[in-house]
Amino acid sequence: MTVGIDAMAIHAGKLRLDLAETFAPAMDESPEKYTEGLGLHASSFPDVHEDIVTMGANAAHQLMERKGLEPADIGRIDVATESAFDNSKPVSTYIAGCLEKVFEDDFHHANKGERKFACISGTQSLDDAYNWIRAGRNRGRSALVIATDTALYARGDAGEATQGAGAVAMLIGEDPDLVELSVEQGFGSADETDFLKPNQQFPSVDGKRSVQVYLARMREALEDYESVAGRVHPDDFRFGPFHTPFPGMVRKAAMLAYRHLTRDTEIEDELEPELGRQPHPDEFDDESAYHDAVREYMDALKGTDQYRAWYDRTIEPTLDIARHVGNWYTGSVHVARLSALRRAREDRLDAAGERLLVGSYGSGAQAEIHTETVQENWDEELAALDIDDQLEARRDISFEEYEAIHDAHNHAKDDEFEALTTPSGEFVRDGQGPMNERTYRYVE
Ligand code: CAA
Repeated sequence: MTVGIDAMAIHAGKLRLDLAETFAPAMDESPEKYTEGLGLHASSFPDVHEDIVTMGANAAHQLMERKGLEPADIGRIDVATESAFDNSKPVSTYIAGCLEKVFEDDFHHANKGERKFACISGTQSLDDAYNWIRAGRNRGRSALVIATDTALYARGDAGEATQGAGAVAMLIGEDPDLVELSVEQGFGSADETDFLKPNQQFPSVDGKRSVQVYLARMREALEDYESVAGRVHPDDFRFGPFHTPFPGMVRKAAMLAYRHLTRDTEIEDELEPELGRQPHPDEFDDESAYHDAVREYMDALKGTDQYRAWYDRTIEPTLDIARHVGNWYTGSVHVARLSALRRAREDRLDAAGERLLVGSYGSGAQAEIHTETVQENWDEELAALDIDDQLEARRDISFEEYEAIHDAHNHAKDDEFEALTTPSGEFVRDGQGPMNERTYRYVE
């Protein structure tokens, strides 16, 4: 049985903060720190009437309409988020409630839940849906997986540079049109305190450590994947979509991955006259000498034609969207997959049958590596997406508007703010009910 992602849709927050033009000057920083260092040009932000429910419901609505689905076709709704506002009632019930306002039927026989493990929970929800279908418990129905987040940091936190907001909806089913998921998976998981939100809205982050933990867990996951699937060669896959908190992070991960994947291959042989062999720990008396040698090797590897060509072909295309939307946490790796396939379409690549090496990551911390195989109808699916229209339609905000929008989404502040955009054909948040529940309506 082939199981995987049948279709995807996104909903980007409707506001756009230009990092180089608007944010950098206000922070008294160089624009290049954003565009070159972090690799980010802009972040998507949610307008006042948007939140994780509206963005998730809007993406799911678009997906269901496009695929001609009714609620009876959906047997599961799993929401992945790290921006939940309720410790008991799952976001999936709110989203189902929204969708029931526009569909005649209801989702009363769909199993609903919410997954939490920082950014990796989007991929964990895919895994849950995959297992449910492979176990034969789906009664021919598909699963709706929705990764939705408002990735906001406290004002003044270094993470403020990497914010974003958006949702990705994915339909998981048998004989998928987009990608098939591999049975093989690898995990790298450890108890870490790099990024967490202990009952608080904005994260506590040890930024520099979070970067190191990302790299360490990804490496473990890759080795674990190889232990079940066999060694991976850099040319085994066409694209490598990774979790992308900011493109600069993926640049670091790609470098490490390439060193690992080329070890003892013909590529290492080819590079030997220029770089020597890769350093091995047992060749050194102490750890710091080994680390210095690795750093030196990596610096030289970065400049080689072989690495540049691999990076430009395999990794760079996965970053096209992230550069303009920032971090969507649980949706981020799924945006990277879309980005790669969108580039494949632009380049008229015959991608059917090509493989993707997908690297998901969640702070706290866990990484997962699996592979995906692009399906025959991928091109048609991509053609149906409106990513560019959504990104272009966003309203640019000034720094003062950014400050007000950040306050509008801050749970500790209860000032009223006017929305900056006029909703049309979308779900909006319209208030608070008697039990403190959030309320929503559909605006025609
Ligand atoms: N021109 C070119 N490059 C410049 C520059 C300039 N003028 N100024 C700075 N840079 C470069 C820096 O050299 C640096 O690049 P390298 O790391 O390659 O050296 C980069 O721009 C960023 O500069 P800083 O390191 O000085 O930036 P910072 O200290 O202000 O913050 C950060 C960076 C720690 C990542 C911060 O944004 C942060 O805390 N982000 C949130 C945490 C995060 O995203 N961590 C990623 C891993 S965890 C994860 O993936 C989960 C998740 O989604 C949160």
